[in-house]
Amino acid sequence: MAILEVDNVAKRFGKLAAVKGISFEIPEGQIRGLIGPNGSGKTTMFHLISGFLRPTSGDVRFQGHSVKGKRPHQIAKRGLVRTFQLTSIYREMTVRENVTMGHHVHAGRRGARPRPSLEKLPQFGSVDESTEWILDFMALSDEAETAARMLPAGMQRVLSIATALAVRPTLLMLDEPLAGLNPTEKSSVAQKIASLRDHGITILLVEHDVRSVLSVCELITVIDFGEKIAEGTADEVTSNPAVIEAYLGKHSRHDA
Ligand SMILES: Nc1ncnc2c1ncn2[C@@H]1O[C@H](COP(=O)(O)OP(=O)(O)OP(=O)(O)O)[C@@H](O)[C@H]1O
Ligand SMILES: [Mg+2]
Repeated sequence: MAILEVDNVAKRFGKLAAVKGISFEIPEGQIRGLIGPNGSGKTTMFHLISGFLRPTSGDVRFQGHSVKGKRPHQIAKRGLVRTFQLTSIYREMTVRENVTMGHHVHAGRRGARPRPSLEKLPQFGSVDESTEWILDFMALSDEAETAARMLPAGMQRVLSIATALAVRPTLLMLDEPLAGLNPTEKSSVAQKIASLRDHGITILLVEHDVRSVLSVCELITVIDFGEKIAEGTADEVTSNPAVIEAYLGKHSRHDA
């Protein structure tokens, strides 16, 4: 069953049609890439799915239920959790404090009674227990007492994913988690993302750089100028003429 259904979603900003009727579905347990050149509508799509923006038309369904009219924190409590393009960690707090803070969104979920089968992470008796498990799982335990701002860029990115885990996602959306990282950091963060999927968490990954998503994603949806232009495996999309044109066309426009 599809955990996420994006159904003909469109978004206008005044005269600009930023997203022009995009549809795609993500089956449970998949790592899906959402790629496209600069300004193609990736982040807007993310905002529309996570409730930070309302679609002009179309619908988004998470676990079969429309997110229409729901606020971002209500959607997050249901298990659809996102990170932001620029990391949203508390720089002066320690790594452990950041992860502990992340639990606050989840704490409000008690009354919501999510179906246990949809809880992908182990159950814990306390926030402290859960925090320790997440620190260990994300290989951050050794840095638990370090101020977040002291971490290298790659580890800050891992920390932002760790804080999202505290919200107990069933679908985790990551906006450019590999951007600005060096090759070693990229492969380490990509490895972490793959291990989350192995834990049963469905992942939607936005990346500008096609190459860095190829290794982790099972299926890739490509958008350009707010429209879906391709969907397939890494091999399929990289050999797709429309995708090549979208990326090469953008480069020549930048060069001009
Ligand atoms: N709040 C807004 N108001 C007006 N226009 C916007 C707004 N947000 C985005 N846009 C425009 O919508 C289009 C899509 O932007 P978006 O940020 O979704 O692209 P993106 O694919 O995430 O790009 P990047 O790779 O640079 O992150 C762009 O033309 C952008 O200028
Ligand atoms: Mg963006």
